[in-house]
Amino acid sequence: MSGGEIDLSAWWMPFTANRQFKAAPRMLERAEGMHYYTPDGRQVLDGAAGLWCVNAGHGRAEIADAVGSALRHLDYAPPFQMGHPLAFEAAEALKAILPDGLDRIFFVNSGSEAADTALKIARAYHVARGEPNRVWLVGRERGYHGVNFGGLSVGGIPNNRAAFGPLLREVDHIRHTLDLERNAFARGQPEHGAKLADDLLRVIAEHGAEKIAAVMVEPMAGSTGVLPPPIGYLERLRSICDEHGILLIFDEVITGFGRLGAPFAAQRFGVTPDVLNMAKGLTNGAIPMGAVAVRGEVHDALMNGPPGAIELLHGYTYSGHPAASAAMIATLGIYSREKLFDRARELEPYWQDAIHSLRQSPNVIDVRDIGLVGAVELAPLAGRPGARGYDVLCRAFASGLLVRVTADTIALSPPLIISEAQIDELVDKLRTAIADSSKELQ
Ligand SMILES: Cc1ncc(COP(=O)(O)O)c(C=O)c1O
Repeated sequence: MSGGEIDLSAWWMPFTANRQFKAAPRMLERAEGMHYYTPDGRQVLDGAAGLWCVNAGHGRAEIADAVGSALRHLDYAPPFQMGHPLAFEAAEALKAILPDGLDRIFFVNSGSEAADTALKIARAYHVARGEPNRVWLVGRERGYHGVNFGGLSVGGIPNNRAAFGPLLREVDHIRHTLDLERNAFARGQPEHGAKLADDLLRVIAEHGAEKIAAVMVEPMAGSTGVLPPPIGYLERLRSICDEHGILLIFDEVITGFGRLGAPFAAQRFGVTPDVLNMAKGLTNGAIPMGAVAVRGEVHDALMNGPPGAIELLHGYTYSGHPAASAAMIATLGIYSREKLFDRARELEPYWQDAIHSLRQSPNVIDVRDIGLVGAVELAPLAGRPGARGYDVLCRAFASGLLVRVTADTIALSPPLIISEAQIDELVDKLRTAIADSSKELQ
């Protein structure tokens, strides 16, 4: 489909090859249930939940109605030194599904803002506790925490950082967990790699535990190409952080809201962080919103100074916006009424078998899965990394399937309402796209 009569020049599109896209646009015009529709009426099966966010499926009238009535009632209220009931209600509703103990919630508008907010809270917490030297922030290679300077610095994707330095200085990274040699085609959590968490001990030895504020990781690295945590890895990270007084931040922007068959990855893996970031599925993608949940003790440490002092000089004009709060309450209601987190867990074995059948396809060097997430990694073409991935994306889209691609890894994360028949359709379409692409790109 072309852009039709629309002039495409003014919108500078994010994370997009603008010139390539505008020469051959892929347009989505409307959406309902498991599908997008192009302007010329073609149906596209959503294998990506939009961008990992539409967990309850598209076009949920409850969310649209809640947003509409919130805006008619209270279009906007300042969140600095003023409050409005919906934001407090939203925080209560969210608290009910968070891991025990994470009961204080700061609202933001995106995953990137959640990352930077979490990092600032971590530093402020240590200042408040009288350890102002704890400033180092530790991330993990291949980690993605959005695009603002904090998350970018702690993130571990060198290409994303290359044009924007210098970034934060007091930042280090531990090793990533992908190990194709030992774990290729693992089902669910890979067996090997718990010991990689000990790389944190190297960083501690180098900088001194007393200088480290926090470690931030995605419990399952998503954007880099879906890396489920090795068995025992997160537990080990948790215990090293505990031993050394370091805060553990989970970035659950992708893994939250049922993606892994539990409300959050923290519950799925039985490891509770001190700080948990979320966005995306928080409002089913319908309205921009993010949040950072913290352990009561982290919050309480900052509730000091004179009673009239602002305890955390941080926040956004749209923190807890009425429309976003309403969208979130409605979204959480759908997740709960339709038991979508349980549904994801129930579908997992079927999903796993289906996507692992792609192991037989040409150039497939790994298949990974956890919850309702999957990844198919293709061997890169010599001298042209990413070419195969992009070709498969285009072929899949032409055949009526939306997938997400990072270099040569095809990531799958359908809405949690997907049926078994639709899983079969998704996998068949992807199988054809990979086969056709392999014939063309030798
Ligand atoms: C783990 C993680 N953190 C942060 C972000 C950034 O979120 P946003 O694009 O809403 O800023 C993303 C986006 O994909 C993400 O996957």
